[in-house]
Amino acid sequence: MDALKAINTRRSIRKYKQKKISIQTVKKLIGAARNAPSSFNEQSWVFITVTNKETKEKLAEHKSQKSKFMKDAPLIIACCYDTTKTRTKAHNLENVAVASENILVAANALGLGACYVGGFDPEYPEIEDSINIALKLPSNIKIVCLITIGYPDEKPAKKSMRPISEVWKMEKY
Ligand SMILES: Cc1cc2nc3c(=O)[nH]c(=O)nc-3n(C[C@H](O)[C@H](O)[C@H](O)COP(=O)(O)O)c2cc1C
Repeated sequence: MDALKAINTRRSIRKYKQKKISIQTVKKLIGAARNAPSSFNEQSWVFITVTNKETKEKLAEHKSQKSKFMKDAPLIIACCYDTTKTRTKAHNLENVAVASENILVAANALGLGACYVGGFDPEYPEIEDSINIALKLPSNIKIVCLITIGYPDEKPAKKSMRPISEVWKMEKY
């Protein structure tokens, strides 16, 4: 699949076949992540791949409303940054966010479905605390998002998109 097709056909997939993802495929996903750009090329990210059922259940508990699907994903990648690898705090989230998009696009190119689960709101520190405990994160490793991955078992409905004229301005606003 070419890059534009992989980007433009990517959708959030939340229902997966219970088919194992090979370690070679997981390695390709991490390879795509670590080839992302980063500020000062500091590559301040750390990716934790989780397949253990109990750990996935603990991660799924972190958001009671809509994220229960996470526990049934064959793979979850916890995308984190390492505070000891960054020169400034300013780019911590950005570095991990761009690497995470690489994972989402690479997953689609490999015939997998994925969903970005974020929202570690500092106003709700208990959510982050439970992730830290489940993944045994040391204090210098901070969670940004969880990406659920598996072979797709759903076809999402067409999504509404804001008109291009609203999001693309030429030369000035
Ligand atoms: C920052 C961010 C946070 C997200 N958090 C969640 C989440 O907590 N749970 C979830 O099911 N999807 C989450 N998503 C996925 C969005 O719901 C999804 O990308 C959006 O509805 C557009 O659909 P699409 O990905 O199929 O294009 C998140 C996506 C982003 C970028």
